[in-house]
Amino acid sequence: MNAHDSEKVVGTLLAQGYSQVQEPADAGLVLYNTCSIRDKAEQKVFNRLQNFKREAGKGKIFGVLGCVAQQEGEKIFERAPHVSLVAGSASYTRLGEMLVQLEAGNRRVTGLSLNTDEAFDTPFTRRDNPHRAYITIIEGCDKSCAYCVVPFTRGPERSRTSESVMAEARGLADKGYTDIQLLGQNVNSYRDPSPAGWDFARLLAEVAKTPGLRRVRYTTSHPRDFVKPIVDAMDEDERLCAHVHLPVQSGSSKVLAAMDRRYTREDYLQRIEWVRAAKREYALTTDIIVGFPGETEKDFQETLDLLDEVRYDSLFSFKYSPRPNTAALKMEDHIPEEEKTRRLTIVQEKQRSIQIQRNAQLIGGVMEVMVEGRNQALGQWIGRTSCNRTLNFSHPEGGESLVGKYLNVRVTRSGPNSLVGETAAVV
Ligand code: 5AD
Ligand code: SF4
Repeated sequence: MNAHDSEKVVGTLLAQGYSQVQEPADAGLVLYNTCSIRDKAEQKVFNRLQNFKREAGKGKIFGVLGCVAQQEGEKIFERAPHVSLVAGSASYTRLGEMLVQLEAGNRRVTGLSLNTDEAFDTPFTRRDNPHRAYITIIEGCDKSCAYCVVPFTRGPERSRTSESVMAEARGLADKGYTDIQLLGQNVNSYRDPSPAGWDFARLLAEVAKTPGLRRVRYTTSHPRDFVKPIVDAMDEDERLCAHVHLPVQSGSSKVLAAMDRRYTREDYLQRIEWVRAAKREYALTTDIIVGFPGETEKDFQETLDLLDEVRYDSLFSFKYSPRPNTAALKMEDHIPEEEKTRRLTIVQEKQRSIQIQRNAQLIGGVMEVMVEGRNQALGQWIGRTSCNRTLNFSHPEGGESLVGKYLNVRVTRSGPNSLVGETAAVV
């Protein structure tokens, strides 16, 4: 989401006559896009701003964008006086206007209002990848997960019209993009604000029909809004990738209630059952938080049991990180850091062994990959499967670049995080 915000900001700047340089040292204007989802990401921002400070005397203008900008607001001007612009993502619709103010010499420009009912719907996006592209369908979040800063930094939910999403998908396909990822904090709660009134399942089905597109993915989902018609839509069209990322956060219904996730372990497993019972086979991945306030050894064990039960293909796991403004901050029984680290290690070791087993089962099979790049050192091409695995493969030398092509690859080896193979035939 952040990477795509940067693509939109860069596109808007280019459209206004700016040009992009490779190194901050060559720039007249340095915009730093930031994340505050967990403490570590936020710390990086201030360290980086310190480094920028040395450059400040050289007539450069600095801006801080994104969630840390929204969260810290004008305090950033105090902490880093060489910064001239502080703007959160909900204000990017005013980016042009803010740039005019900077050009006019204003050194305290802010965009911090969350009172917008618009998404940042810009026709100008400078995409980093010529084959895979992101499309934002919904911004902000109306949930109130007790640990999460996003509703405070990205504001309330705003869905784009289906017409505008479809036009962007067609435009990308016309330019040769074949792989699209629909983005939002909670794509499942997408609701077309135009009279057509499409829900997420309908939008998925329609985007997938765009001539020229071969793969459509989406991220991220909330189990509460992940309804059966989404699985049905995926089953109808193989262009909708064989991967469901469904963040569970915890395997304990007690912790889920404390997190205000508004589903139980059983509700969650029901959704997993829909996916498992579907016609096609889907990779399942999730997000886990360990050490949420009040998480007992028993609760933690329930998370481990859930991993055994679902046997995810991959997961992202995090130590609970206290965030400003959130409900969890005031909860009792915060878990000591060492204990969070211990639990995180256990989750990651368990998941590693599950992935070793699951990936090994794929040896001998043929999977279609989209080629994403080349690993020169290994003499292999880097491919991605519909189920979102990395499948590195060898291919007879001498041809032109395979990047962006779709190939069938036979899996010959596997590891915990990726597969290795060789081309079977060009699709
Ligand atoms: N602490 C730890 N992990 C968090 N996440 C979000 N907020 C926090 C937090 N305060 C994780 C969740 C979410 C993912 C994007 O980041 O697992 O799904
Ligand atoms: Fe954060 Fe919950 Fe919204 Fe996801 S659904 S962005 S975890 S508040």
